[in-house]
Amino acid sequence: MSDNHLYESVAALPKIDLHRHLEGSIRVETLIEVARLYQIDLPESDVETLRPHVQIVKGDPRTWREFLGKFRVLRRFFQSPEVIKHITREVVIDAADDNVKYLELRFTPHALSRHIDCTYYDVVSWVCETVRAVEATHDIQVGLILSMNRHEELQIGEEILRTALEFHDCGIAGLDLAGQEPGYPAEPFRKVFLKAKEANLGVTIHAGEWAGPENVRRAVEHLGADRIGHGVRSADDPDLIEFLIERGVLLEICPTSNIQSGVVSEMSRHPLVELFKHNVRTTINTDDPAISNITLTDEIVHVVENTTLTVEDIKQQILTAAAGAFLPEDERAALVNRFETLLASS
Ligand code: ADE
Ligand code: ZN
Repeated sequence: MSDNHLYESVAALPKIDLHRHLEGSIRVETLIEVARLYQIDLPESDVETLRPHVQIVKGDPRTWREFLGKFRVLRRFFQSPEVIKHITREVVIDAADDNVKYLELRFTPHALSRHIDCTYYDVVSWVCETVRAVEATHDIQVGLILSMNRHEELQIGEEILRTALEFHDCGIAGLDLAGQEPGYPAEPFRKVFLKAKEANLGVTIHAGEWAGPENVRRAVEHLGADRIGHGVRSADDPDLIEFLIERGVLLEICPTSNIQSGVVSEMSRHPLVELFKHNVRTTINTDDPAISNITLTDEIVHVVENTTLTVEDIKQQILTAAAGAFLPEDERAALVNRFETLLASS
C-alpha cells in the first residue's frame, strides 16, 4: 500500500481513542489564539517560537521529565471558564474531524481550577456541558474520565472521587491516576479507586510506563484497574502477560508518547506487537496529541508502517477498544455492534 493510500484509508476508518488528555490536546495555533482572546501572558507570541515550550521537538531529551514539563506549560492556559470551554470544544471537534467516533477524554480538575476561583464541580460541569454541545452537532460520542496525579496529595484524589460520583449519571465514566510514576507508588490512592469501582466507575491507572512491570500488577491487584494507561513494560514479564490475559485487562497503548518520553527506542521495537500477538487486549491511543504533534490517524499509520501489524490488526484493536469502553453494559454492547458494522464496510 502506498504511503498516501495507507494514510487515506486509516483516516477514513471509524476510530476510538480511550486515552487522550484534554490538557495535552490543545494545538499550538489555538494557544496563540486563546492567549490573544483571553489576554493570557505567553512565553512567546508566534507558533514557531512557542512550539518548543509545549511540544516535543527534534533534539529534546527523551525523558519523562521533559514530557511532563510540556504538559505543565499547557496547563497554565486554563485561566477562565471561557478558555476551558473554548479548548474543550476544539479538542472534541479535532477528534471528530479525525473520524474518532468514540472518545474517552481525561482531564485533571485540580489543574484546571488552579487559576480560576472555582470548584472542581464547576470545572467538570463546564467540560461536560461543552462536550454534550459538540456531540449534538458532530458525529462523536464522548466519555469523560477525571484524572488525579500520583505525585499530588491524596486529599485532592478524594475530592475528585466525590466530584466524579456527583456527575456519574451525567457524563463521568471513570477515574484515572496519572503523573510521575518513578518514586510515587499508586497504593496511597487505593481506597479512592476501590470506592470508585464499587460505584461502577471505570478505573484506569498509568502504570508500567516510566517504571517497571510490577506497577502494572499492583495497579490491577491493589487498585482494581480495569485498564492500564500504557503498561508497555508488561512485555518484560511473561508471568504478568499471562496475568493480564487471565484478568482481561486492557492496555491503552500510546506508541508515539512512549518513544518521545524514552520508554521505547523506536516504533519498530514497540512492545505493542508482542503484547498483541500474545493476545493481551491492546489498543492504540494518542495520550497528548498536541505535545506529540500527532493525530490518531498519524499514530496508527506510524504503527502499520513500522511494525508487522496490519490494518486488519488495527481494526481488531478498535473492536477491543469498543469492548473496553467505560459505559454501562448495554451501551457498551451497542458500541461494539456499531463498530462491527462500521468496520465491516470500511
Ligand atoms: N500526563 C500526561 N501525559 C502523561 C503520561 N504519559 N504519563 C503520566 N501522566 C501523564
Ligand atoms: Zn496519559
